[in-house]
Amino acid sequence: MSALLEVHDLSVDIPLRHGRLHAVRGVSLRVEAGEAIGVVGESGSGKTIMLRALLGLLPQPARIIGGSILLDGVEVTGMPAGRRHAALTEAVSMVFQDSLTALNPVMRVGEQIAEVPRHRLGMSRTAAHARAVELMDSVGIPEPERRYRAYPHELSGGMRQRIGIAIALSTQPRLILADEPTTALDVTIQAQVLDVLDTLRGEQQLGLVLVSHDLAVISQTCSRIYVMYAGRVVESGGAWALLGHPRHPYTYALLQSVPDPDAPVHRLLTIPGQPPDLTALPTGCPFAPRCAFAKTACTQEDPPLVPVTVTGEAAQLSACLRWDTAAHWPQWSEPSETDEPKLGATS
Ligand SMILES: Nc1ncnc2c1ncn2[C@@H]1O[C@H](COP(=O)(O)OP(=O)(O)O)[C@@H](O)[C@H]1O
Ligand code: SF4
Ligand SMILES: [Mg+2]
Repeated sequence: MSALLEVHDLSVDIPLRHGRLHAVRGVSLRVEAGEAIGVVGESGSGKTIMLRALLGLLPQPARIIGGSILLDGVEVTGMPAGRRHAALTEAVSMVFQDSLTALNPVMRVGEQIAEVPRHRLGMSRTAAHARAVELMDSVGIPEPERRYRAYPHELSGGMRQRIGIAIALSTQPRLILADEPTTALDVTIQAQVLDVLDTLRGEQQLGLVLVSHDLAVISQTCSRIYVMYAGRVVESGGAWALLGHPRHPYTYALLQSVPDPDAPVHRLLTIPGQPPDLTALPTGCPFAPRCAFAKTACTQEDPPLVPVTVTGEAAQLSACLRWDTAAHWPQWSEPSETDEPKLGATS
């Protein structure tokens, strides 16, 4: 059976005055109905451009220069723009990072949720109102009838993000793309919003692509993880395997930089150095200048993404020439007592 979403070898370039910026470079991924996948990587790794390419919402002058996007096995990349837009908007919705700028400040939140049911799905005013209240209830907004009449600035950040999710649901999508949906929220509210997304995934068999720079957020919700660096996927696999046994030094470094919630002082370690300039990529592995394990060979070819282990059904892939030395990588922070993933991943 076809996956809900399959992306093969997707590449996006942004032509600039001083050259071409290779924002997304040969990304492949798959989402099944009812499955949450996570995409993680530092700022600038191409996560947002990749998501926007999936929805056909690329900023000017970015262009898809290769690859394919299949929805339920049907290729949408080659469709005429109008048909592609219709196919995508029918099946896919997006939740944005900043609900305050994504929402209309002068329109009641309930009316914003009711817009699609009223105007696109052709419901009567009363039915669209009832649908909006029902959606608000399904994303855990208390007293939805009363909050229907609120303006965005009258709600907390967490409530606004729930409104953003309700708007995304109003088109009855099968796939939700969420771009850093909890980054602006504090940790407790973050967990509540992730819980809403996770419940919807389970109850409505929604596919979910959760994008974050924060591995802790991804690990709470996603069963499979894709790690992006410099526009590429450098490691992917089942969450448990990837977090417990990273096979790429970048994933390894990201794991080391997650603060330990049990530590008395939260210290966010950062990975030394900067990601490469995407208009002038070095030959060889793009992580080499920052990699603690780089050897001469690493600067000679960009390592292909290859299967390294198979746990259950999900193959773990790594784009590191030296993945097979991972068992000997030294702990960069305190060694853990057990062999379990540091972050307590989901199944
Ligand atoms: N509208 C734009 N014009 C030019 N460059 C852009 C634009 N949007 C993103 N970029 C560049 O594309 C790369 C990927 O960006 P982005 O997808 O936003 O990264 P992320 O979401 O992972 O932080 C970055 O180098 C960024 O500077
Ligand atoms: S290929 Fe070499 S430089 Fe790149 S991540 Fe692996 S060890 Fe580091
Ligand atoms: Mg982004």
